[in-house]
Amino acid sequence: MDLLKLGRILWRRVIRPRLFAKDPEEAHRVAIRLLERFESSHLLRILGFLYRSPFSDMPTSVGGVRWRNPAGLAPGLTKDGRGIAALDALGFGAISIGTITPSPQPGSPPPRIFRHYDDHRGTLHLVNRYGIPSEGAMRISERVAAAHARHRIRASLIFSLGPNTATLEKSRGSAILDGLINDYSLAAAFLLPVIRGDDAIQVNISSPSMTRLHDFIPSLPDLLGTLRERLDQMMAALNNSPLSLILKISPDHQPKDYELIVKAAAASRFNAIEAFNTTTDMNIKSFYRLNEEGGVSGDALTALALRQTKTLAQIIQEAGAPLDLIASGGIMNIQDALMRRNAGAKAILLYTGLVKNGPPLIYDILTAWHATK
Ligand SMILES: Cc1cc2nc3c(=O)[nH]c(=O)nc-3n(C[C@H](O)[C@H](O)[C@H](O)COP(=O)(O)O)c2cc1C
Repeated sequence: MDLLKLGRILWRRVIRPRLFAKDPEEAHRVAIRLLERFESSHLLRILGFLYRSPFSDMPTSVGGVRWRNPAGLAPGLTKDGRGIAALDALGFGAISIGTITPSPQPGSPPPRIFRHYDDHRGTLHLVNRYGIPSEGAMRISERVAAAHARHRIRASLIFSLGPNTATLEKSRGSAILDGLINDYSLAAAFLLPVIRGDDAIQVNISSPSMTRLHDFIPSLPDLLGTLRERLDQMMAALNNSPLSLILKISPDHQPKDYELIVKAAAASRFNAIEAFNTTTDMNIKSFYRLNEEGGVSGDALTALALRQTKTLAQIIQEAGAPLDLIASGGIMNIQDALMRRNAGAKAILLYTGLVKNGPPLIYDILTAWHATK
């Protein structure tokens, strides 16, 4: 039996059933602990043997830096930078860490993640309202430094940054803009010492828990422009070249909002747009009977995300904006990945598809991406 086949069977018959038997947040914790356990032993090499595609080395320019390959991990799985060497052994081209807030915060009270798995139909939708729990940028920076000291991590690391909930709740009027800029810059300042040349910073303005940020679309030029300036100053002080900056957006906007977002991102010299975060679209939620409060990911998001990716790609093209498109949202199989590429995406990020299909999904997507280059 070939090793990948063994890896598939392990995922479908052993690991996934055990994870899905648990409460979803407990399953998340167990998955992270499992990754960490693999790191502390020779098991790391076994992960590579079982799952790493022969096309893991397919260098791809994304947002001005070089990813190892075009298939990355979306934010939210390793919120605090745990298990990144094990994730690297699986062959990801980029690994998102976070969302990271400057100060530690607990996030929303549980239950805050819900799993809707239909074995018969083969569909998986998740609804989450985590509310950005984070150990804080300083602790995460230390953890990433420790990982680099012990392992050679070949994937680009994408540090997803967000504001503390208190900043969004407390400040009023124009003070909130200053608060947001300070939070993103402070988190970045803690992380700068561990950011390597092909890593990137992702600015998250789209988690459903940040509802007030939706009101900020008109202020985006100020927010993104000032942030770019501050980060450039910090990098110049270290004699480093400017950072690759990615803006992560929601799939729930109208085309006119996307036009504003693209204009603001390009004017602020952002390098890429990550499209998309989870959706709170009520039509989707009621169609799939997803009654919990929170953002929807997985199969229920696929059609909306593809449609909005096409809209966004057209807006970027018409604006002549030098922004790469990184697709995320309901990429559950090879076909979803290739359709996003055909729609204009340079790279893709996985989350719920990985939960459903396990690490063989990375292998399959890279093989298909290579075959249809
Ligand atoms: C449990 C969970 C937690 C998430 N946390 C974050 C987060 O902290 N920051 C972020 O930018 N996106 C977060 N996301 C969104 C994912 O990165 C991704 O954009 C979204 O789930 C759509 O992709 P998918 O359908 O492949 O999961 C989270 C998603 C899930 C399911």
